[in-house]
Amino acid sequence: MSGLSRALCSNSMRPVFIALSGLLVASSISADPVVNGTVGESVVLLAGFSQQSDITGVEWSFGTDVIANEGNINGTKQFKDRVHLNRTDWSLTINLLRAEDSGEYNCAFETATGQLPTHAVTLRVYEKIESEVTRKPSHETCRATLLCTTNQREHVSYRWKRGDQDLPEHAGILEVALSPGEINVTFTCIASNPVSEATASIRESCDYIAFVTESSGGVSFCVLKSVLLSVGLVLMISAVIGVHVRDCMHTKRNVRRHRAACET
Ligand SMILES: *[C@@H]1O[C@H](CO)[C@@H](O)[C@H](O)[C@H]1NC(C)=O
Repeated sequence: MSGLSRALCSNSMRPVFIALSGLLVASSISADPVVNGTVGESVVLLAGFSQQSDITGVEWSFGTDVIANEGNINGTKQFKDRVHLNRTDWSLTINLLRAEDSGEYNCAFETATGQLPTHAVTLRVYEKIESEVTRKPSHETCRATLLCTTNQREHVSYRWKRGDQDLPEHAGILEVALSPGEINVTFTCIASNPVSEATASIRESCDYIAFVTESSGGVSFCVLKSVLLSVGLVLMISAVIGVHVRDCMHTKRNVRRHRAACET
């Protein structure tokens, strides 16, 4: 890009050129100037012009650094050999994205009649998300606190499912309560960031013995067993007494019958 066009494009001249070039490129600026990229993958930044035949120069810059132009399509500085400038539509492909590639990119064009307004594209590079669900250590049964953790520090949103049902919770933490008899209920966390989604699951159960022990207000299983044994013992003693009493009545009746037989 020549020094002359750069000078012409100084702020004082800009309104004139915007007005002029507006005639050339009416409605060709792309609508969405924010692009999301993933670490390690590629992204294409569009030049913002649909068709422009009389372009004589193009310059992509990142911050204050020119990173590619019509004479150097493979990039400089941190982008060396990671970018490719497409000579047909002047889009810029960035490969093997890094977190530090996040920022504003500017694309400036020069035509035979002057310089067109620069087109800005903001690139946000995110890491691909990974997630895991763990159970917070606890001695409670039939209740659990589930934690969904990811490799991200920010820009994470969460959804939860119980089986196939969506749950209303949207935090990285989920309190669950099961009813007795619910076995192997799957809880799934779906964590996402602007470029990816990851699911992770855990199974929870609530069996009867555990529930009874738990709901007897912290009474230990040992105490519960003693109570059951005592009840059993009482029932057994009652049975023995019952049988004995019946035998006694039986014997008495026999004696009476014997006496009656003797008297006749
Ligand atoms: C990029 O991510 C933002 C959230 O940070 C989102 O609002 C936007 O829709 C995403 N853009 C595209 C093109 O996916």
